[in-house]
Amino acid sequence: MQQLVIASNNKGKIREIASMISDIELLTLSDIGYAEEIEEPWHTFEENALAKASAIFGFCGKNVFADDSGLCVNALNGEPGVDSAHYCGERNDERNTQKVLDALEGAEDRSAFYKAVICLIWDDEVYYFEGICEGMIAPEKTGEGGFGYDPVFIPAGYDKTFGELPLDEKNKISHRAKAVAKMVAFLNP
Ligand code: IMP
Repeated sequence: MQQLVIASNNKGKIREIASMISDIELLTLSDIGYAEEIEEPWHTFEENALAKASAIFGFCGKNVFADDSGLCVNALNGEPGVDSAHYCGERNDERNTQKVLDALEGAEDRSAFYKAVICLIWDDEVYYFEGICEGMIAPEKTGEGGFGYDPVFIPAGYDKTFGELPLDEKNKISHRAKAVAKMVAFLNP
């Protein structure tokens, strides 16, 4: 079976992606013995995804992919965007989410979207796959499922947050699911 390294330490992401990929053996960073934080210093999802995939490819030389993703809120000019993981100044889902709720207090437009960009390094070539999930920011947090901003994100066409919806439902429509589906179609044509 082909091996593919997932260049992430985010357990929420790994859980979602692993449930969408079969026929390929997924290796985590701990499987390959990589214990450092991966830098993501850039201002676009594409650049950060490439930086993460390249760092791990340089470490192990195996086929690898990295996902860089975030929440873009239209009334906040696309923030938190690439800064989603550290929006409040540290990696703290609870405070990041509260910061978005506070920033949107009184706002009429609560529309937002999640975006995911996957950078795949496969047989020494670089490929990108993108997915977008449109939705709205809820007035308050609801639900314990998912991760990150999921307790306040209501996907378009639903009246529940990703925090309330079961994971298999999220995996049908999420930004990451769409990007992963494109990568899987590329790998298993
Ligand atoms: P990064 O891709 O590791 O830079 O981090 C992405 C960040 O965006 C996460 O830490 C979350 O804050 C947010 N994010 C991305 N995708 C999702 C999602 O599916 N649900 C909730 N938050 C997400």
